[in-house]
Amino acid sequence: MSRHRCALVVGLSFAAALAPACGRASRRASDASPDARGAVTAGSDVDATTPTLVDVGRRIFFDPALSDPPGTSCATCHDPARGFAGGNVAPSGVSRGSRAGHVARRTTPSVLYLRFVRRFHYHWEEDAPLPDAFGGFFWDGRVDSLVDLAEQPLRNPDEMNGGERASIANKLRAAPYADELRRALGRDALDAPDVALRALGRALEAFLLGPDMAPFSSRYDDFVRGGAPLSPRAQYGMALFRDPEKGNCASCHRFNPTARDPARSLFTDYGYEALAPPRNRLLAAARRSNEADLGLCERNDPRTHTNDARLCASFRTPSLRNVAARTSFMHNGVFTRLRDVVAFYATRSTNPKRWYRAGAVLEDVPARYAANVNQRRVPYDRRAGARPRLDDDEIDAIVAFLESLTDAPFRATSIESVDRKSERALRTSNGRARAAL
Ligand code: HEC
Ligand code: HEC
Repeated sequence: MSRHRCALVVGLSFAAALAPACGRASRRASDASPDARGAVTAGSDVDATTPTLVDVGRRIFFDPALSDPPGTSCATCHDPARGFAGGNVAPSGVSRGSRAGHVARRTTPSVLYLRFVRRFHYHWEEDAPLPDAFGGFFWDGRVDSLVDLAEQPLRNPDEMNGGERASIANKLRAAPYADELRRALGRDALDAPDVALRALGRALEAFLLGPDMAPFSSRYDDFVRGGAPLSPRAQYGMALFRDPEKGNCASCHRFNPTARDPARSLFTDYGYEALAPPRNRLLAAARRSNEADLGLCERNDPRTHTNDARLCASFRTPSLRNVAARTSFMHNGVFTRLRDVVAFYATRSTNPKRWYRAGAVLEDVPARYAANVNQRRVPYDRRAGARPRLDDDEIDAIVAFLESLTDAPFRATSIESVDRKSERALRTSNGRARAAL
């Protein structure tokens, strides 16, 4: 995609200057500001940021009674001990639903920092054959409003399996927070099923966009604010992460270490890319489906070009904040160690056999869409057999840098410590993270 050329001008020096040739897409991405979403509750008659609504939203988020059978809350999958990302993960790398044998289709992303996600949109550079897509919620950006989104996990039979709106509304009326919800949104807020679902969505939105959900408390954040410097190892990793001839990671996972405002470093431009992670066979088996996940072009949205075949197999670039607290990676959860993700970038093209069965490159992308996978871009632009752009030591350094992006409450569960921790210790830290909210 065209925006990637711009990356070439972001050098090892920490100057944030971008060459004029680098189009608007890049500048816009780095201009992301705390109010990037603007009025997300357009048309609402109540101030969505009232403490009551945030508080009810939090209680709904942790309420296990809304699923069928009960026991699965939003927080079961968006685990507060793991940066509000993949919890209750099955061996296949995706979260389990409320019913035995049911798992989500994709990995569970973090719900932190969502207020920076812009609405889904295209940016068309003059000379590009195809516009670049940005933003929207979910791996394929199919929803723009958190109020509307809440219903999807609730009713998804592989997630909370909540059933019809009427039965969810019944549960809301019986919930211990029903009165608070009515107080915040009006006496009739739970009367009709549609209205009740909207009330639930608005409360969840208020919680998810609230101040607790963008903590900016990582070592990296401390460093950009002028606090303690990063360890030499993490600094080295940061330089490799940025270097357009080495990791080139920052061309998509954008950040700005010279801006004191950590909101300038979200580690994503919210753009879409077909990276072709290997097929996750455990996931295919768990879902009893061999169908390829086509991401962006599956949206089939009549208002946009998303059904263009050239967009197939693209997924939204995730933020790397708190990535070290995860236990499975990529939209299909194929990787279980952070280091493997970085090694995949470095050696996808130089040693495809390491990643794809029988060396069949791009096995999880149907052959007719293979051209959508960029094979000319740093770091995966080298021929098979050539020396990778990153050696083992450099991969480790990048991982050390990524570990500096973990917010304070989730550090206890970052990936390294997980291996050594007993389940009990994990539960304690889970409790601590919850208490920190
Ligand atoms: C069974 C696990 C599960 C449960 C329970 C669950 N989610 Fe999710 N959540 C997911 C998965 C998987 C995705 C990614 C889906 C996709 O991209 O197609 C996701 C994505 C999201 C996103 C989009 C984040 C982003 O970066 O775009 C939000 C917001 C969200 N969920 C909120 C919620 C809320 C609110 C609830 C409770 C009402 C909830 N989820 C319950 C698994 C779950
Ligand atoms: C061309 C844009 C692009 C570049 C360059 C890029 N990434 Fe990514 N990154 C993505 C996209 C898109 C995904 C999600 C892919 C998917 O799931 O199919 C991703 C996923 C990841 C993940 C998994 C995150 C998660 O929550 O599962 C990590 C870790 C990561 N990238 C690190 C890096 C590092 C380190 C580099 C540099 C060596 C890098 N990325 C370079 C776009 C990019």
